[in-house]
Amino acid sequence: MQRWQLVVAILVVAASAKVTLSRSDTQGDEAPDFCRGAPCPPFKVISKGSTYELREYSTTTWIATNVSSGNFEVAISKGFVPLYRYLQGNNAAGLKFDMAKPLLTRIRPTDSSYSSSGTEYTMLSYLPDLSKATAPAPLSPNVTVVTSRKQRFYVGVFGGFATGGSTLNAALRLALALTTDDVKFDKTQFYYGLYDAPTRLFGRHNEIFFIPLSDESTTAEL
Ligand SMILES: *[C@@H]1O[C@H](CO)[C@@H](O)[C@H](O)[C@H]1NC(C)=O
Ligand SMILES: *[C@@H]1O[C@H](CO)[C@@H](O)[C@H](O)[C@H]1NC(C)=O
Repeated sequence: MQRWQLVVAILVVAASAKVTLSRSDTQGDEAPDFCRGAPCPPFKVISKGSTYELREYSTTTWIATNVSSGNFEVAISKGFVPLYRYLQGNNAAGLKFDMAKPLLTRIRPTDSSYSSSGTEYTMLSYLPDLSKATAPAPLSPNVTVVTSRKQRFYVGVFGGFATGGSTLNAALRLALALTTDDVKFDKTQFYYGLYDAPTRLFGRHNEIFFIPLSDESTTAEL
């Protein structure tokens, strides 16, 4: 295990343990199994394709950070730290929050065959029960609170421990399936959703999210 994997493993395990011990409302029960009892943003399934589904998420609040790295795994472990510190009390109110799921990473592939995820990532962690107005201000200049409007996403699932390569492959598979179904979506970016702690060895659940384009004229080509 490399150092970054160890750091993320320790942080995610610590965060998950806290969730299972302290979460007492009903969100965990209503949430899908793949949220493993942690709070996760509510959605409804609008339609199902052969290998994906169209979900509609409500308006939600997230903390976000930008991170640069030539390496996908390093980017994720770097971006996780300021988000985790916010949840651990590095905010204007000194409040601690349970770690929710998923941890989203926005990826902008450098080419249309998704051979590389480039070096610039945005990572987001869901803040349940808070709005942009009620979320305490981050103390780190590298963290912002953002609102995600009610939004639809095409979502595909993949398993295993996500690497840069397996994430790009999963995104490419979903992009091809959507293209085959003549669906219009933003091909220039997608989100990778991390749900499971590194201690979960089997049955891991990861997701890819593409943003639908309702207006053909705005279709962005890489
Ligand atoms: C991340 O970068 C975007 C521009 O790409 C910017 O709008 C946003 O404020 C940045 N977020 C943080 C936390 O620096
Ligand atoms: C913010 O991010 C920059 C670039 O990654 C880093 O050099 C700096 O130490 C970060 N600041 C804080 C307060 O974490």
